[in-house]
Amino acid sequence: MKWAVLVGGTGSNLRAILESGIKVHLVISHRADVPALRIAQTYGVPSRALLPRDFVDRAAYDAAIANSLEDFGVEAVALAGFLRWLTSPLIDRYRGALVNLHPSLLPAYPGLHAIERAFRDRVWWSGVTIHFVDEGHDSGPIIAQRPVPRFMNDTVEEFSERMHLAEHQLYPRVIQEVDRGRVTLVDGRVCYNEEESPWMHGHL
Ligand code: GRF
Repeated sequence: MKWAVLVGGTGSNLRAILESGIKVHLVISHRADVPALRIAQTYGVPSRALLPRDFVDRAAYDAAIANSLEDFGVEAVALAGFLRWLTSPLIDRYRGALVNLHPSLLPAYPGLHAIERAFRDRVWWSGVTIHFVDEGHDSGPIIAQRPVPRFMNDTVEEFSERMHLAEHQLYPRVIQEVDRGRVTLVDGRVCYNEEESPWMHGHL
């Protein structure tokens, strides 16, 4: 599958994906001058910054994304720090081949600042979730989750670092499983081909 990664920030997950050997054909950022774009450049991956303010509305913005994806023949899309809600036509076009990473054990802590909110609540366990994207907000069918502990004396920085490490380990592996067709979306449910894959119901 030809993958694109949609970014908007530091790009640490983009780097983990690239370092795992997954071939990324295009990187799109919703912000200019972010480290994620420089990472794409370093790895020789074509990249584009598409800024929402340059488009009249969300539909026009997503149409521009869709056009870029088409230009590069993209077949599957991974969101990694892309902090924009996508509209239905784009979600529909890539349904089952559009994945998102979220830094919480969904359905807990959807939305922004999930790590900081969990830390503030003094939860002992949080974690990361990878899910297929649907029309809801951080609500799509869950592919895989990995729990991450908060330790007694953690600072928010230490807790965040542990969370990001879990993301960097899990996301490339999930993308590889989707890429190989070992995990698919069928009638809105995640199906694992357990004969071929190391999966056991979302634990990887
Ligand atoms: C990650 O924590 C991811 O879970 C969230 O945005 C962050 C992106 O970080 N959706 P990075 O840009 O990959 O470093």
